[in-house]
This record gives sequence, C-alpha cells and structure tokens, in this order.
Amino acid sequence: MKGRLEDKVAVVTGAGGAMGAAIVRRFCAEGARVVAVDVSGEQEALASELGDHCVGFTADVASAPEVQAMLQLALDRFGRLDVLCNNAAIQGYLRLTGDYEVEEFDRVMAVNARGVFLGMRYAIPIMLEQGGGSIVNTASMAAKVAFPQLVAYSASKGAVMMMTKNAAVEYADRGIRVNCFCPGSIDTAMLNGMPREYIDAVIAANPVKRVGRPDEIADLALFLASDESSFITGTDIVIDGGYTAL
Ligand SMILES: NC(=O)c1ccc[n+]([C@@H]2O[C@H](COP(=O)([O-])OP(=O)(O)OC[C@H]3O[C@@H](n4cnc5c(N)ncnc54)[C@H](O)[C@@H]3O)[C@@H](O)[C@H]2O)c1
Repeated sequence: MKGRLEDKVAVVTGAGGAMGAAIVRRFCAEGARVVAVDVSGEQEALASELGDHCVGFTADVASAPEVQAMLQLALDRFGRLDVLCNNAAIQGYLRLTGDYEVEEFDRVMAVNARGVFLGMRYAIPIMLEQGGGSIVNTASMAAKVAFPQLVAYSASKGAVMMMTKNAAVEYADRGIRVNCFCPGSIDTAMLNGMPREYIDAVIAANPVKRVGRPDEIADLALFLASDESSFITGTDIVIDGGYTAL
C-alpha cells in the first residue's frame, strides 16, 4: 500500500526536539524522504535510525544562507521539495513585559518569526518552479491567548500565524498551500523546561486534563502536509485539548 506522503520530499526544522522528531518519523513512515534540520546535532541520531529516507543537517533557521543550504540539500539529495515544516523555535525566558530584555526579545523573534519567514522566503520560489507544495508552520496557542511573561514568544507566534495567512493568500492560485497549527501544552523539552507549578496549572486548566503527545502533533502535521488537505490553506488549527475553547 502506498504511503500518504509517497514520493514527496520534506524539510522539517527543529527535528532534534520531540515534536520535530515525531513529525520526521511519521513522514518517513508514510513514504516521504526527509531532511531533518536542527542546531543541536540531535537530528543526526534520528537520521541514522531512519536510514536512506532521512538525512540530518545542521542549520540555524535565523540565518538566510543556512536556510538556503538546508533547502538545497533536499534538492541535491532527493531531487525536489514538496513540504516544508517550519517547526524550530525557542521559548525565551519568563519575565514581565516591563522587565523583558530587548536583546532576549530580538533573539526569540530571530528564531521564531524571522526563521519561519526565511523558510518560506526561500522554499516558495522552489515550489513555484515545481508547480506546488505544502508549507506547515508550527505556531502556538500563545498566538491566540495571552501567556503572561512570554511576550516575545507570544509575539513571534502571532507573527507566524499571520505570515502563514499572508503567504497562503498570495500563492493559493499557484499550487502552494500554507497552513499553521497552534499546539497547546505538549510533552517535550520546551514544556518540561517550565516550572513544575506552571505545568500543573496548565494541566488543571485543560479540559482533557493532560498534556498532548508529540505523535498527536505529527498526525496533524501529516494531514496538513499531504494532499488529503488539498482544499485547506491559510488556516491556523488549534490542537490543545480544548484549552482555548474555554
Ligand atoms: N511543547 C509545547 O508545549 C509547545 C506548545 C506550543 C508550540 N510549540 C512549538 O512546537 C515547536 C517544537 O517545539 P518543541 O516543544 O519540540 O520544543 P523543543 O525545544 O523540544 O524543540 C525545538 C527544537 O528546535 C531547535 N532549534 C532551536 N533554535 C533553532 C535554530 N535557530 N535553528 C534550528 N533549530 C533550532 C532546538 O534545538 C530543538 O531541538 C516549536 O515551534 C514550539 O514553539 C511547543
């Protein structure tokens, strides 16, 4: 039986983290060939585990030449680029807006907002030449509701959501779909780096009374990446166990 991403080539950033790794695994299991990108080096073990279907690459998504290089690797190694998952991000530290260091704001925006812009900026011309593609950006429920002390992170995820909609409308009639999803609290290093009382409060406030799993995110990323979502573009799908429905 054919996989849901058979013959497709994808680039996934943040592949060293649990969410990115789950996406890479799911894509490969569905027949895609994947460039797994991170700055941490963690993506290399994943790529070795997955064999010929996956190649690891170290790139900082805030750097234009490095983003161009990661996309070029997809072309050089696998011959095309059908899917880009702009998933890498950092959270920045927790501090009230009036105390937030300007340098920290810039650092978070550079990875989370500029990084997603650069991915789209350099993937879109390739996809146009090929006749289409699917871009899947990882936003956050922080793009929807306030999370005190996370001003830079929230701003960056709001930017991801609106860049998604802009690009979607710009290229909708030329075969490129651009969507984002907005996860709630998911069991990864990013969430687990938060203070325990913060995590407990988030779980208590969540209608499903648990955090999400990376594989639940991977299922949604797969749907948005694949042709099954062919009439969906410019959307911002919340995947949060009902947190923002309250
Ligand atoms: N975990 C959650 O609760 C949660 C909630 C909402 C949204 N998200 C989003 O999900 C995505 C994945 O996050 P995660 O939870 O797996 O976090 P994570 O910190 O576990 O993984 C993020 C990965 O991105 C990589 N990265 C950081 N800066 C980079 C850069 N400049 N260039 C390339 N790679 C870089 C890190 O090395 C890391 O491997 C992020 O966009 C995050 O904002 C996470």
